Amino acid sequence: MASASELKTRAAEAAVAEVENGMRLGIGTGSTAEIFVRKLAERVSGGLEIIGVATSERTEQLCRSLGVPTATLETVPELDLTIDGADEIDGALSLIKGGGGALLREKIVAAASRRMLVIADASKRVEALGAFPLPIEVNGFGLMATFLAIRKAGERLGLSGDIILRRQGEEPYLTDGGHLILDASFGRIPDSEALSGALHAIPGVVEHGLFIGMATSAILAGEGGVERLDAPSRR
Ligand code: A5P
Repeated sequence: MASASELKTRAAEAAVAEVENGMRLGIGTGSTAEIFVRKLAERVSGGLEIIGVATSERTEQLCRSLGVPTATLETVPELDLTIDGADEIDGALSLIKGGGGALLREKIVAAASRRMLVIADASKRVEALGAFPLPIEVNGFGLMATFLAIRKAGERLGLSGDIILRRQGEEPYLTDGGHLILDASFGRIPDSEALSGALHAIPGVVEHGLFIGMATSAILAGEGGVERLDAPSRR
């Protein structure tokens, strides 16, 4: 039986084969994206010319260390393709992301891309989103008020469960943007669009990890092989 790491590698290899010369590429964050960066670096050293925009400081550092050219989204604000991992993916290619804490930059970069390709091992495929706790990036100011507002927004949609401040050791986890993350264990989310809207209406919420209508394709690697899913074109 293949390990999760082997399956992630297969998905990353299939994705790197789709990168074309001259592409402006959004580059994701997480263990699968890291494997993708390593494979991409091999192609770059073989002559592939791309410019990457990283979705986190750690991806930026990895790209630099491996010789993958990067630019900021300021200098390259429109991208051809973003390749990134996911914590969950459903049949409509809606995602939960942010397990690695990079959801805000990941969403900004994906939104600036014509296409978003998700790479994952097949265990990330779910019937309905929500078994993975939903990461919600919040401003540190008014944390308790924001926490209560998120809880109420969930309750209005019939969602309940623990909402926990993410920590790194003893300290609150800080995102690249200097924000906090609340992980909401709502369980199955029947209406992710309604939850997305309700969370966006809370002033202290910076962004949440529901990516709806953003992924255009997915490559999922499982024991049975590599499966490709395509969404109807989104823009
Ligand atoms: C990073 O913030 C996340 O959105 C990752 O893309 C997601 O957690 C998937 O990570 P893995 O590839 O490590 O499972």
